[in-house]
Amino acid sequence: MSVAVIVGVGPSAGLGATLCRHAARAGLHVFAGGRTLALLEKTQHEIEATGGSCTPVVTDVTAEEQVQALIEQAEQAGQIELAIYNAGNNYSGNFLEMEASLFEQAWRVGTLGGFLFAREVLRRMVPRNRGTLIFTGASASLRGKPRFAPFTAAKAGLRAMSQSLAREFQPQGIHVAHVVIDGIINGDRIRNRAPALVEQLGEEGMLQLDDIASTYLFLHQQPRSAWTHELDLRTFRENF
Ligand SMILES: NC(=O)c1ccc[n+]([C@@H]2O[C@H](COP(=O)([O-])OP(=O)(O)OC[C@H]3O[C@@H](n4cnc5c(N)ncnc54)[C@H](OP(=O)(O)O)[C@@H]3O)[C@@H](O)[C@H]2O)c1
Repeated sequence: MSVAVIVGVGPSAGLGATLCRHAARAGLHVFAGGRTLALLEKTQHEIEATGGSCTPVVTDVTAEEQVQALIEQAEQAGQIELAIYNAGNNYSGNFLEMEASLFEQAWRVGTLGGFLFAREVLRRMVPRNRGTLIFTGASASLRGKPRFAPFTAAKAGLRAMSQSLAREFQPQGIHVAHVVIDGIINGDRIRNRAPALVEQLGEEGMLQLDDIASTYLFLHQQPRSAWTHELDLRTFRENF
């Protein structure tokens, strides 16, 4: 059985869950990792309703043993062909009053989790000389905006690590890619946190979940003579 492992899976209208549905549609058995079981089970049910298969596994990506257990469980079910590190929360605040713990937490989720996940996945993929490992980035991966120092540092670190991994493991047959999502995703997160911004941007001012996920599957399906390491996605309206 060919397996996809996707971590950072939350609400149905979020990127993690959408990536799970697309991977299942591509014929992969999906291991969905995230912190909230009810949300993971919702994704499982959605996938099963359309004939796919999914195993929800509660996983905190910052907990080494939990990441190891997830990858071990997935490999016992089949061969991991696609692995996506999608976890990320947007940490921001007044820098002068910021607690060091906030900065550290952003790094744990944004960067350390990516290291733990990639290491476990690559330990399985490298001996087979095949597999795809994709990291989700953001505008912050490339440039720091005011108030977003912790998030920027974390995402930039993840991006830098992905480059290092690509240069080390691509020659061994592993496709390592980093996707810069440059804009607001039209999903639950923004709808719940900033409905006024959703109103202001309108549908066309936000990235659509299915359109982003299709790109990840495209990356996974690229032939090895023409691999992309990094691509950026933004709406036609975005200033950049
Ligand atoms: N939303 C945007 O506009 C936007 C824009 C650019 C880039 N991105 C990036 O896109 C990715 C997905 O964003 P999204 O907004 O669509 O969210 P999503 O994919 O719906 O959910 C991401 C999930 O990551 C989870 N997560 C956070 N910390 C975790 C941890 N320690 N262990 C396991 N899971 C954890 C969150 O869980 P909890 O619900 O428990 O916190 C959340 O459900 C993120 O990497 C984000 O940085 C998002």
